[in-house]
Amino acid sequence: MTLHGKVALVTGAGRRVGRAIALALAGRGAAVAIHCRNSRADAESAAAEVAARGGRARVFAANLESIAESEALIAAVIEAFGRIDVLVNSASVFTRRALDEITERDWDAALAVNLKAPFFLARAAGAAMRRQGAGKIVSLSDIAARRPFLNYIPYSIAKAGLEAMTVALARALAPEVQVNAIALGVVAPSEDYDRAGLERLRRRIPARRFGTAGDAARAVIFLCEGTDFATGATLTLDGGRLID
Ligand SMILES: NC(=O)c1ccc[n+]([C@@H]2O[C@H](COP(=O)([O-])OP(=O)(O)OC[C@H]3O[C@@H](n4cnc5c(N)ncnc54)[C@H](OP(=O)(O)O)[C@@H]3O)[C@@H](O)[C@H]2O)c1
Repeated sequence: MTLHGKVALVTGAGRRVGRAIALALAGRGAAVAIHCRNSRADAESAAAEVAARGGRARVFAANLESIAESEALIAAVIEAFGRIDVLVNSASVFTRRALDEITERDWDAALAVNLKAPFFLARAAGAAMRRQGAGKIVSLSDIAARRPFLNYIPYSIAKAGLEAMTVALARALAPEVQVNAIALGVVAPSEDYDRAGLERLRRRIPARRFGTAGDAARAVIFLCEGTDFATGATLTLDGGRLID
């Protein structure tokens, strides 16, 4: 599918990885719906950056803990742009908690934003894509789905569910819509990581480097434009960390 003239929604696109993905999609000629929750100013600046380069972008705010808001987000994008061709599920809750500290609230937030919202967003967007005859859904997963992080257990479980969702929806939305995931290693370390631990980790990764938001964005572009033959796949992008 070529991205030129298409419409792409990226969740959590005000900052960090989601922002890089939205800018990359705009760079390929797609109109971008930049979703945010709290980072409105960042999202507006991303939209302004797209406009300055001659592209089309609009900001949409929604709390993805709410299914009603998630479904309304898809409806608002279709209302604004007339269609939706690409959905990138990038918004995420990544909260550090030792096993004994995990509360029901932590569990619910991790599952709601990392798994439940992507499902309802994908179902609503997927229905529109099928009517149009084509579409791409890409969800940002994490190698924690396969090697859970001890201090991020609900997050890791949610990402494992996201990869199962990818397979289920790839089957359910075929043949019109391709549904894939990207399992990232470290690309933009969270601010609460300790620097010495990160440096030890970097030296253990076969690639001897962390990834970048650009690595993630290029993989999204590949799954949208580079092939229509991948579906139900999770592309691992971790510098070899899982094979270490
Ligand atoms: N960064 C990495 O190194 C890394 C590694 C592995 C996997 N990943 C995956 O790649 C994706 C992007 O990573 P990231 O580090 O850029 O993510 P992030 O900074 O942790 O979160 C992205 C955005 O998610 C949004 N969000 C959180 N809760 C929300 C809610 N209730 N409703 C709506 N939006 C909500 C926030 O938007 P607002 O700021 O607008 O509130 C936030 O800016 C994530 O799915 C992550 O799991 C990242």
